[in-house]
Amino acid sequence: MATEAASKPRVQAPKVQNQKMWIGGKWVPSASGKTFATLNPATGQEICQVAEGDKVDVDMAVLAARKAFEEGPWKKMSAAERGRLLNKLADLMEKNLHELAALESLDNGKPLNDAINADLPLSIKAYRYYAGWCDKNHGKTIPVEGDYFCYTKHEPVGVVGQIIPWNFPLLMVAWKWAPALAMGCTVVLKPAEQTPLTALRMGELALEAGIPEGVVNIVPGFGPTAGAAISSHMDIDKVAFTGEGKTGQLVMESAAKSNLKRVSLELGGKSPNVVFADADIDAAVNGAYFGLFFNQGQCCCAGSRLFVEEKIHDAFVEKLVARAKIQQVGDPFDPATTQGPQISQEQMERILSYIDAGNSEGAKMLTGGKRVGDKGYFVQPTIFSGVQDGMKIAREEIFGPVMNILKFKNIDEVIQRGNKTFYGLAAAVWTRDINKAHRMANSLRAGTVWINCYDVFDAAAPFGGFKMSGIGRELGEYALSMYSEVKTVYINLG
Ligand code: NAI
Ligand code: MG
Repeated sequence: MATEAASKPRVQAPKVQNQKMWIGGKWVPSASGKTFATLNPATGQEICQVAEGDKVDVDMAVLAARKAFEEGPWKKMSAAERGRLLNKLADLMEKNLHELAALESLDNGKPLNDAINADLPLSIKAYRYYAGWCDKNHGKTIPVEGDYFCYTKHEPVGVVGQIIPWNFPLLMVAWKWAPALAMGCTVVLKPAEQTPLTALRMGELALEAGIPEGVVNIVPGFGPTAGAAISSHMDIDKVAFTGEGKTGQLVMESAAKSNLKRVSLELGGKSPNVVFADADIDAAVNGAYFGLFFNQGQCCCAGSRLFVEEKIHDAFVEKLVARAKIQQVGDPFDPATTQGPQISQEQMERILSYIDAGNSEGAKMLTGGKRVGDKGYFVQPTIFSGVQDGMKIAREEIFGPVMNILKFKNIDEVIQRGNKTFYGLAAAVWTRDINKAHRMANSLRAGTVWINCYDVFDAAAPFGGFKMSGIGRELGEYALSMYSEVKTVYINLG
């Protein structure tokens, strides 16, 4: 907390009232009357109480979503009008940008600067991008045999359940809602129990934008209750999930056992970030640093296996350690802060236990390794070198500010080792050799490969995982297929 005394917070953390659920365009308490606390991860203190949804509440939300899907103005609305409403929602986010960013920082702990400069613009862009798609998702005409006119239509998949995590709460709402609404679906969303506040505010903004009541419904609550009620629901047509791999497997299992609802999953990763000796070293140091430590290390696509070519290894590591030492860990509302708290006590303890595992398995801890302070859930930026492929910290998702550096000798070796994981979400390569860059891009089994960059996202470009990192692609044109059914129509012309 080096900066606490050095600079005064520019923005006050907002005051928040207790929150209800958002169903059918209204605030409603949970059927049980139960509530749960959402905490400020920077202090561990309660922000407010939030209605705790369970099966009955999910049922009510699904009824509202079904009604809006089958009967409401949403169904009759033109695709172009849906696009106007999505743009209106983006306008309202711009208008309320500082309020939303402050709420996000308060509930999630991310530095306010990051919320303002990354989460908000990326979220807004997603709504605008999909606003444009609403009236452009064409079917085809197909030259079949016989005297028939055959065409396809892309129809909305129906009522969609969406279960999201806590690391990018607003952005995850955007990635889930924007393509679903563009296609004309209606939604029941369960935000993560750690971060329900911005999603709930988005419900209100959606109504203000003119999106009819019941089109988006938000049921805050816990995974095994409200989440499981969504994935097993008989009247939800599709479930979209982002979170831990094991939870994704549960979601898929209950989707299979209930009504075979469509499933898309965005799960974790253990993404290789490969630095060759011929790279622009300073750019690679920055990219490697950002690729791991951004968002307190809580990124599904974090470059959590940093492979550095032997020839430059020691010099590279030295620069990284120096970079880690200037990280400013502290109050997310302090403009000087570059790293806020982890999301929860549970995650902080999990990260510290991975650090213990790194030490006991013989990796070399070069910096960090400890909790910061005794209030809130802050962890020092931590770097391990001498990490071996088989170590726990090299195999499992840590989801915290812990960097693992592995040494390699040549390209064949690093391709093989880079791919030696059940995950396949992302990968990155740093080199000035165009042939090497292409060979790596072709060989790495990952949904996104960044060359001489990291964490580049655009609403127009798909994102998702190979192997156990998920099923389906979010963003871009590809996401539309996750929210639509193809209907084939034959007309007898004979
Ligand atoms: P999680 O997968 O349990 O939680 C994500 C969402 O799923 C939350 O909304 C949660 O309430 C819900 N959920 C939990 N159990 C459920 C169930 N049985 N049925 C339906 N929904 C359920 O992740 P958690 O426990 O918050 O974090 C654990 C680890 O997962 C992290 O340390 C990290 O490694 C990974 N993770 C990955 C994320 C990603 O973006 N790929 C995001 C968050 C966590
Ligand atoms: Mg969990």
